[in-house]
Amino acid sequence: MSKQQKPLEKTFHGFGAEIYDLWWPEGSVGGDESFYKELLRRQGGNSLEVGCGTGRILLPLLRENFELDGLDYSNDMLNICRDKLKQLNLSADLYQSPMQDFNISKKYNNIYVPFHSFMIVSDRSEALQALKCFFKHLKQKGQLIISLFVPKYQSLSLYAEDQDKWRHCKEVNLEDGKKIIISDNVRNFHLEQIKRVRYCFEVFDGEKPIDTYIQEMNIRWYFLYEFQLMLENVGFKDITVYGDFTFESLAAHHREMTFLCYKS
Ligand SMILES: C[S@@+](CC[C@H](N)C(=O)[O-])C[C@H]1O[C@@H](n2cnc3c(N)ncnc32)[C@H](O)[C@@H]1O
Repeated sequence: MSKQQKPLEKTFHGFGAEIYDLWWPEGSVGGDESFYKELLRRQGGNSLEVGCGTGRILLPLLRENFELDGLDYSNDMLNICRDKLKQLNLSADLYQSPMQDFNISKKYNNIYVPFHSFMIVSDRSEALQALKCFFKHLKQKGQLIISLFVPKYQSLSLYAEDQDKWRHCKEVNLEDGKKIIISDNVRNFHLEQIKRVRYCFEVFDGEKPIDTYIQEMNIRWYFLYEFQLMLENVGFKDITVYGDFTFESLAAHHREMTFLCYKS
């Protein structure tokens, strides 16, 4: 890896939080907001978004009068979300806690974990712990919704063409005239089912590079039957899997899989 680096913390803290909304604005993730909206509407009742971040999904749903709370372990992400809630005159309880170990006095009709946030809990036993925590915080017949990417052998292989190469992701223009070029570098550990992703943020003032930050995280991928078994082991029932934020059953061409299941 050749980029000169100034490491960030290993999470979505600090700098990552500041530019998150420019990187992933509302509407940027394949229509997932309207998909969750429909799932929550069908089930009704109150909901908790786990890994709510700066509120990309939480805020549009609150604007439509859904009864929602959010949980995230990053204070930086939550603070941005809080500011936006205040500006928009919306209210939600926001909890700062890791999803693998939280304790809220309320129970929910829905818990949903969008945009691969569950995969960031890369330790297997902690991931199982998180599922148990969701189970505990659901009401009877409550619905759990978790979205993961579909593991595709070509891109997860040790021999994937772009393994360990820097790839351009996005260019983000800031209000003060500066710009940030975001690139990523992926290394797969296929036995462990871990993708180590490094994001590089190169800050430019005009054409002049002024700073470079590196953020690293491990993402665990899951296979379809493996994840179904995990959910069943925790006690979830009636599992359905949809593809690409549509109501189609998961099929080979889909890139995203969303698991729906119930505490009954
Ligand atoms: C990809 S962002 C998703 C944010 C938002 N849900 C969205 O869809 O735009 C992942 C979020 O999960 C949070 N996160 C990662 N690991 C977590 C953990 N173990 N417990 C709670 N939140 C976590 C991060 O801080 C970040 O805000």
